[in-house]
Amino acid sequence: MCGIVGYIGERKAQDVLLKGLSRLEYRGYDSAGVAILHGHKMDLVKKRGKLKVLAEELNSGPIPGAIGIGHTRWATHGAPSDVNAHPHLDCKRRIAVVHNGIIENYLELKNTLIKEGHKFISETDTEVIPHLIEKFYKGNIEEAVRKALKLLKGTYAIAVLHKDEPDKIIGARCDSPLIVGVGKGENFLASDVPAILDYTKDVIYLENHELAVLTKAGVVVKEHSGRRVAKKVARVKWDISQAEKSGYRHFMLKEIFEQGDILEAIQTERLRDGRIRFQELAIRDNIFKRVKRIAIVACGTAYHAGLTAKYMLEELAKIPCWVDTSSEFRYRDPIVDKETLVIIVSQSGETADSLAALREAKKRGATVLSICNVVGSSIARESDGVIYIHAGPEIAVASTKAYTAQLAIFYLLTLHLAKLKNTIKTARYNMLIREFRRVPNLVKELLSEYKPDYNPLAAYAQEFKRYYNEKHNKSFFLYLARNINYPNALEGALKLKEISYISAEGYPAGEMKHGPIALIDENPWVVCIAIASKTYDKMISNIQEIKARNGIIIAVATEGDKEILHHNINYLIEIPKVEELFSPLLVVIPLQLLAYYVAREFGYDIDQPRNLAKSVTVE
Ligand code: F6R
Repeated sequence: MCGIVGYIGERKAQDVLLKGLSRLEYRGYDSAGVAILHGHKMDLVKKRGKLKVLAEELNSGPIPGAIGIGHTRWATHGAPSDVNAHPHLDCKRRIAVVHNGIIENYLELKNTLIKEGHKFISETDTEVIPHLIEKFYKGNIEEAVRKALKLLKGTYAIAVLHKDEPDKIIGARCDSPLIVGVGKGENFLASDVPAILDYTKDVIYLENHELAVLTKAGVVVKEHSGRRVAKKVARVKWDISQAEKSGYRHFMLKEIFEQGDILEAIQTERLRDGRIRFQELAIRDNIFKRVKRIAIVACGTAYHAGLTAKYMLEELAKIPCWVDTSSEFRYRDPIVDKETLVIIVSQSGETADSLAALREAKKRGATVLSICNVVGSSIARESDGVIYIHAGPEIAVASTKAYTAQLAIFYLLTLHLAKLKNTIKTARYNMLIREFRRVPNLVKELLSEYKPDYNPLAAYAQEFKRYYNEKHNKSFFLYLARNINYPNALEGALKLKEISYISAEGYPAGEMKHGPIALIDENPWVVCIAIASKTYDKMISNIQEIKARNGIIIAVATEGDKEILHHNINYLIEIPKVEELFSPLLVVIPLQLLAYYVAREFGYDIDQPRNLAKSVTVE
């Protein structure tokens, strides 16, 4: 949550900060602000609302200066407002701080500082930081920051400016991401790589309890204690064009359409001559061989990928497996020991609950494998081994391409474990690899049916809106599926509710009679995943039960299925024929698109839905 940018160099800081913040807006978008130094003068501009409100203000009266810090906020303490927006200042308005994270002991610190005469103007936890730095400032900003950090409890990434030391920016982190972009005669601080990619691909990933001093000429990294640390400069492999919309109306649509290519790239990277390779993985096969049980732990969409993985791992690798949301795992007493493989799934690699779950699992002696997208993220670094999905930057808040890429990695991992544990016959293994190889092209074929000029899902979304209005906003969505597509029912519902704010629930279809059927009348639209599978007939029975109660049905069926047409369904979505095990990779695509088009029909801000942010680095 929240995005931080810092710049020191020769360019106009205002432009660099605005550009950087626009690349980080996915992290929070309820207010934004900058503090810029020009000689010994500090200008502060902060505004409630999206970044464009701040940009309009700055563009109507540009601020000079080539050193500054900026912030885009996702509110935790204090409502979105101009006053609560970052940067925050000390009493004498000499120190400016932007912060991502939560200072858990801020009330205690604030009360002490108030007693000592400090004046607070915001409701934020962050404001204690500039006041603490002010308290310790004796002519050396770095030293004052270090003393202040000692008193902070919680999570933070911060960037700090002092107007009497206009030749440096200080950055520091503890459990919130912060990177340094290394340029020539200029340097950058940011929460994430896209913010700096317009200027440099050379990056230093700061670790917890490290502090960086940025000047125009260079970067010095130290531990919070002051001891210097030698850091490697890494080269980012991807390009800024990957973080742009490239002609698509929204990042979400672009990311949905990237999925065929990403699945193909995963296969090219990981599959050679029928052999599966996880080059970067530091966990050896003899450890996998000893694994007696698997716990998959994740949040949101990544959790749904984990739920799907349970079906494949138990069927093929014959390893008992359970799946937990990170926030539940970390607060109960999970049975996890040396023989347990804990798999943490996280696109961002920074989700606070997943990181805490990882630490809990390690404390209990488990081997921790993570499946992440963001290279060098906290979860990737702290696990015993990581497999990267290499899906490229996912900017839309609603996760799409990371989900299918996580599933693809799970398929490969499952087949790898099945082979290691000897739980699969060679003929079946070879058949599944052959079938899996077809999937990227099938996904591309499926996506090619949803061209902007003729798009059945856009038409269904239009119909839904008309119906919704006619039913006085009482319509909602139910998603039903069975077996390995049940998690897709959850995922379809999550996509729809998060970007269109329409109530949507996913259910295993067999549970209908145990409660949800009471919801069925003419109001709900029920998405029934009824592809060719061993539970097809059961799904057909569910469809009949819904029709008997006047529900509106969108059926997701396999191309060529004639029978489904006899069941009076209202709308049909077809997916290419594929081995049932791999069908989740295809089924989810129209569900993502349906959510997208419903939100678009209602005119919502698809890439930045209300109340959400991409990377949940707070509990
Ligand atoms: C939903 C969505 C979220 C994330 C969840 C986990 O579209 O994006 O539910 O999946 O916040 O995030 P990561 O994968 O970064 O740990």
